[in-house]
This record gives sequence, C-alpha cells and structure tokens, in this order.
Amino acid sequence: MKVLVLGGGGREHALAWTLRRESGVSDVLCAPGNPGTAACARNVAVDILDPAAVTGLVAAEGVDLVVVGPEQPLDAGVSDALRAAGHPVFGPSQAAARLETSKAFSKAFMERHGVPTAKARICATADEAEAAVRAFGAPVVVKADGLAAGKGVTVAATLDEALEAIDAVMRQGAFGAAGSTVVVEECLTGPEVSYFVICDGVRGLPLGTAQDHKRAYDGDQGPNTGGMGALAPSPLVDAALSARVMQTIVEPVLAGMRAEGHPFAGILYCGLMLTPDGPKVIEFNVRFGDPEAQVVLPLLPVPLAPLVLAAARGALPLEPLPPVTGARVGVVLASGGYPGAMTTGYAIDGLEAAAAVPGVTVFQAGTRLRQGSGGQAQNEVVTSGGRVLTVVGEGPDLRAARDRAYQGVARISFTDMEFRRDIAAKYV
Ligand code: AMP
Ligand code: GLY
Repeated sequence: MKVLVLGGGGREHALAWTLRRESGVSDVLCAPGNPGTAACARNVAVDILDPAAVTGLVAAEGVDLVVVGPEQPLDAGVSDALRAAGHPVFGPSQAAARLETSKAFSKAFMERHGVPTAKARICATADEAEAAVRAFGAPVVVKADGLAAGKGVTVAATLDEALEAIDAVMRQGAFGAAGSTVVVEECLTGPEVSYFVICDGVRGLPLGTAQDHKRAYDGDQGPNTGGMGALAPSPLVDAALSARVMQTIVEPVLAGMRAEGHPFAGILYCGLMLTPDGPKVIEFNVRFGDPEAQVVLPLLPVPLAPLVLAAARGALPLEPLPPVTGARVGVVLASGGYPGAMTTGYAIDGLEAAAAVPGVTVFQAGTRLRQGSGGQAQNEVVTSGGRVLTVVGEGPDLRAARDRAYQGVARISFTDMEFRRDIAAKYV
C-alpha cells in the first residue's frame, strides 16, 4: 500500500514513522514533510491547501490512501475533492470538520444533541458578546469562532479581561473573519484529558488517551501554546470513564452528524474537562493532536494503515482494539521566545545522539535542512519554527518513559532552546 501523509510537523513525522514500520505499507510519501520525515518517507512539494493539486498528485503517484494530518486541508475541502475523485482518504469532509473549524457550529451542535459541554451564548456582534460576559460574570471564556492557530481562546479571570478579548477579536479583528462570531461560555474546572476515537461515519473505536501541557512554562505558567509536551495514556481515564465518554459524548456526536447529513469519518479528538459533574467537552478537534500523536501513535496495539483504511471505507472492525500497554512521554523543544517572537536558523546538535538512547525517538517539526557551503561541508538540520522537536521516551510506565524522554533531551542543544522540565511530573 502506498500512503500519502499531508502535513509537515511533528504529528506528521509520527504518522509517517508509524506507517513506515508496517509490513502492509510499501511506500510513504509526505507533503510537504520536513527533514525528519525525509528519513522515513519521500517528501513531495505540493500545496496541501489546494484540493486540485493534492488530487493530481494522488492520481499521478498512484497513492492508495491519503492520511490528512492538520485541520487546514480539511477546512479547504481537500478530503471532499479526494473522495469525489474516488481516492480513499482518512479525514472528515469540510462540513463534518466544522466540529473543529467553527466553535459556534460545534457548540450549537452539542446543544442540539445533548452532549455535555460548558453553557454558552453564540454572539454575532460585540454588543451581544459584552452582554453575555456580563450575564455569565467572571471567570468567563471568550472563543473566536474560526481557526485561529490555537490562539482564539481567552480564559478571562476578570470582566475587564473578557471585554478586552471581545474588543480585540470583534472590533480590532485580531483573527480576521475567524473572529466575526464569538462563543462566550462558562468557565469549567477540572483536569483536562484528550480522548481519541477513530470513526467511520457510523461507529467509533476508542484509540487512546493523552494529556497535553499547553502552557509555555513549568507549573502551567505563561502563555498558551500548541502544546509543550504530552503523556499517554492518561492515568485519569479508566474503563468506566471511557465507557461514559463513548456513551454520553461520542455516540451522540456520531448519530447527530449522521442525522444532519454529515457523517463523521476520521479522528474525533475530544478535548475533555473532568468536572465534578462528569466529563464535558471543551473542544473537538477532527485530527490527531500535536504533540499528542507523537505519544499516542507509538502505543497503538494494531497497525495503523489497515485501521485508517477501514475507517475511510466506512467499515471499521466491530471488535474494540486490544488495550494499550506501556507508556510514552514526549517533551517539546522550542525556539527561544515561542509562542511569541523568536529567532530561528540555529544548528541543532545531538539529534543522532538522542535517537541512539534506547527507548528514545525524536520527531521533527520546525526544522529545515541548510545546505553546507564549500567543498566538504555537510547539510545540517537547523531550527525553522516555534516547536522544533518532540523527544519521546518509552517505558513500561510513565516514570520510565519520562526518564527516557529527558535522557534524550539532555543530548540535544541549539541556541536559545526552551523546554518544560515538568512534563508528566505530576504523575510519576
Ligand atoms: P481550546 O483552544 O478550545 O482548546 O481552548 C484552549 C484552552 O482554554 C483549553 O485547553 C482549556 O484549558 C481552556 N478552556 C477552553 N474552554 C474552557 C472553559 N469553558 N472553561 C475553562 N477552560 C477552558
Ligand atoms: N495539542 C493540541 C492540539 O493539537 O490541538
């Protein structure tokens, strides 16, 4: 089977790395990929937001299965175009992807189908939003409707903070059209877990759980990021909680999407808060998380390719997957200043030394290859983005996995490298 992975971050490196090791997979292509995916896949240059370009590549290369990594191609209609041309694709339709791409759609959908989530008001004007935050009172949460690269959410401790967020999003247009509608919602409390379900339009199978570390600095301080590290599986999700999530959240979502004419096939990533009243949805994503994929995929108890192909064909196996054994901890190494302004282009030392530590895998994200200059100079891998690498440790439990991950981290350095020292610390 020839598989094409769309995307070029750590998640896509983990997808390509996983697929490459499977006996049923003959070729892996990655578009656009990165220097890390080049070691386990053939990188191809194509605009992954252009449905016609992607469909053309798939036809020309004779690709048997397309796995969409990030949400933007789904929002751009890439999965619809591939499906219309008869190519198996793992990723929901543009309409079904609204569970992630429109927080207003997602919230109204959950309300229509009785899915537990924070109480909310969907507001189309700044005046309405201001009235809503006053009605809820602080603390309160203000969310831009559309995709805002993970920056569209303000958890406001005070009314002033909430009003400032509304001004920035709705009056100043901080996120452009993505902020023309906002969702104002009650602030929930409790630990957060990521719950992954593979779906074929009708049914879903739990695939694994993880916990992200979203804040930039140790002790959950500092600004929100795309994720500074992750652990899997989540020690907070037992069999009873998993059954409750499937029954109260996943099943109503799948039935509701089908009833509304947009069956959901792909990864349903339920971002949950475990509140005193039970698990509630904070957000849905319609793809694997990053860095969650880097810790969830290596734990899969079955091969990935046949599973996602079955989901793409609407025919997932009827049996639940075998239980996950062991654990993974992933630590993100970021450029100095991330998630704010930063400088990149620094050489990365120790990639091979880290990968040589038993039980350590290094996934690349914000990296690029710099051509060596002069006769003997070698190409070198340099930093090119905010989140540069995810160093993943494996072990029989979180403690062992965490030790391994930080042994790997200790081998790597680049100028102004930043990382959290407390990934998974709470659980060991
Ligand atoms: P999101 O981009 O929707 O994942 O939101 C970013 C973060 O904001 C989440 O991971 C939560 O920590 C926080 N958050 C979002 N909604 C709520 C809420 N209703 N109550 C408390 N925290 C929230
Ligand atoms: N790590 C959070 C996300 O992928 O959305």
